Amino acid sequence: MAELYVGLMSGTSLDAIDCVIVDFENGIELKAAQSFPLSKQLRQEILDLCSPGENEINRMGILDRLLGKDFALAVTTTLTRASIDASSITAIGSHGQTIRHNPNSINDPSFTLQIGDPNTIALETGIDTVADFRRKDIAAGGQGAPLVPAFHSAVFADKAPNAALLNIGGMANVSLLEPPLLGYDTGPGNVLIDSYCLKLFSRNYDDGGRIAASGKINNTLLSDLLSHPFIDKQAPKSCGREEFNDEWCSPILAKYQLEPADIICTLTEFTALSVVRGLALSGRNIEEIIVCGGGAFNQHLLARIAYHSNKRITSSEHYGVAPQWMEAIAFAWFAQRTLKKEYSNAPSVTGASKQLVLGGIYYAR
Ligand SMILES: Nc1ncnc2c1ncn2[C@@H]1O[C@H](COP(=O)(O)OP(=O)(O)O)[C@@H](O)[C@H]1O
Ligand SMILES: [Mg+2]
Repeated sequence: MAELYVGLMSGTSLDAIDCVIVDFENGIELKAAQSFPLSKQLRQEILDLCSPGENEINRMGILDRLLGKDFALAVTTTLTRASIDASSITAIGSHGQTIRHNPNSINDPSFTLQIGDPNTIALETGIDTVADFRRKDIAAGGQGAPLVPAFHSAVFADKAPNAALLNIGGMANVSLLEPPLLGYDTGPGNVLIDSYCLKLFSRNYDDGGRIAASGKINNTLLSDLLSHPFIDKQAPKSCGREEFNDEWCSPILAKYQLEPADIICTLTEFTALSVVRGLALSGRNIEEIIVCGGGAFNQHLLARIAYHSNKRITSSEHYGVAPQWMEAIAFAWFAQRTLKKEYSNAPSVTGASKQLVLGGIYYAR
């Protein structure tokens, strides 16, 4: 019997809602996958909520519902195009859109917040929906992130026991599969590259890393960027737009008079080196780096990671999982874990006090 789940992901890049339909009956079979780009306006409204501002509760409440509707539409559209009936889906796993991630508050309790109302998703699709995967890990003293290492381990540990998974989304995170499982964010993935591609070249991202490849590295700027305290911080650690954003980056860039392509090149080098330094923090002997996330398509970035790490870089595609769908598939898997009442956080990764069943279930009835 097929065991169909839907996975929904919209990450820090704010590029798109990714929707997958997965059959877990025998391993992972991707039945359908589709990406729904976020409109410019929606993207800006989310971005505005990622930092403190006026009238936040009202704006968040509205966006929570709007995103819930968009997530539901992504699911129904993907189902229709794949000719799969909603009644054959066991559940949806929806990550939601992170608008704030503060896992390290010193005086106040830490928190993380994802929006995209799961009640709306459940009602409008008619499918039970699992959401809010991160907050229980935070409640148990963990970072609530990254969560995907548990999934990476479940899928890749047998096939590549000494590998590191590298997910390059808006932020970048690594999973070191050799037990005990380790995983943490290493710093920015595409977030700064994307932002300055838009400002300097009116493009949403640096396709294939071609702009970066045409520029030169400015080493002084690079060391300035690398001095961000997150880069060499010991795990457990996770980051977001709170740490790596234009307000942080622009004043640093302003100190240098650089050609636009040199800026993109140096920002790309910053991502590459923070990943490689991050991997080194583990002290592990890694045989191979398996990449996923949209950054896996930035050839120049991958070449720079290979150059600095001296490791073999493989796309997750090579192991049968398309890099751009990895995270959405992961949240389909997390939903399955929740329904089966199985643990899905990895305390060795997040620093949580114990293993937990993550997520809340929102029934369609
Ligand atoms: N062909 C490509 N060349 C370079 N970068 C790409 C390409 N395709 C996607 N990307 C990058 O991947 C990002 C989206 O990655 P994704 O894994 O969806 O991140 P997130 O989880 O943060 O949304 C885009 O914003 C872009 O920076
Ligand atoms: Mg994305």
